Amino acid sequence: MPLPPVNLDELPAEFKQAVEAIRKVVPERLSKPTWGIICGSGLSGLASTLEDKVEVPYTEIPGFSQSTVQGHQSSLAFGFLSQPSESDPNEIIKVAVVACLGRFHTYEGHSAQSCVFPTRVMRCLGAEAVIVTNAAGGLNDNFEVGTIVALHDHLSLPSLTSMNPLIGHNLSALGPRFPPLSNAYDVDLRIRLFKAAQKIGLPSSAMQQGTYAYVLGPTYESRAEARFLKNVGADCVGMSTVPEVIAATHSGMKVLAISLITNKVVLSPYFDTRAFLEKEGEHTSSSNQAQKKDDKEAANHEEVLEVGRMRAEDMRKLVQTVVCQTRL
Ligand code: 6GU
Repeated sequence: MPLPPVNLDELPAEFKQAVEAIRKVVPERLSKPTWGIICGSGLSGLASTLEDKVEVPYTEIPGFSQSTVQGHQSSLAFGFLSQPSESDPNEIIKVAVVACLGRFHTYEGHSAQSCVFPTRVMRCLGAEAVIVTNAAGGLNDNFEVGTIVALHDHLSLPSLTSMNPLIGHNLSALGPRFPPLSNAYDVDLRIRLFKAAQKIGLPSSAMQQGTYAYVLGPTYESRAEARFLKNVGADCVGMSTVPEVIAATHSGMKVLAISLITNKVVLSPYFDTRAFLEKEGEHTSSSNQAQKKDDKEAANHEEVLEVGRMRAEDMRKLVQTVVCQTRL
């Protein structure tokens, strides 16, 4: 069942202004996309696959903020993804999509509401489903660097306590006041993603499913925070995605969210000061010095971008396959 069109006159003026600004520069066959795609850190390579691509810089769209993070672009890209049909290889499936190249994060100082404006505009343009990608730190011991995780749930301290994008006057032209999130992550799309992973030949251990913890950032977690998130059931952690998932779910869109594990979150035990002092003198001072460096590799943004690049092609193929082989 297709979603009904959104009545733009019942929304704040910036929605209509954004849609009109887009329709002015994007040809009609592209400006009513079926899928919205929100690309995470280092994952905007998808843009190169878009056929007949038209990019609209965020600066030209009323209501859009500017994203400021290294590794993120700042434009909305329209185009087609195409692929031969799995059931009839002579048939080429061609699907119109809109992709956010660069997203807004709460840690940049944007409100949760402005972070989800692009997602809502996608719905206004006619998108039925969104694919949201991100780079995340792995908490689950089975998630090696490079693992692709189909999210099946989230744990969001910010939106449980204060930063929920739906706070304020409800935009009832988009969705209800109290939307449930218990089924936010669409099962059929997850199945599609696993099938796509098989099709492109990803080793089965590289495709997992799990729960994403959303933190505001921009600091990476302390060890105690990481332990806390792991103990309450999170498999990975990151600084995005949940606001967009909430807004998409509110407005009736199906959601597929995919994390790329770019680093393992540091959970190692603390340096044992007492043991160190007791052993002092027993060992050479150089081995004591080595032991003191128990902080191993701390999370850093360069590593996140590097792994993003390593898996970018797989992520691109997965998105392309899911979009082309799924009838919504
Ligand atoms: Cl370790 N933490 C958070 N919050 N976000 C991340 C990450 C870690 N790695 C990639 N993104």
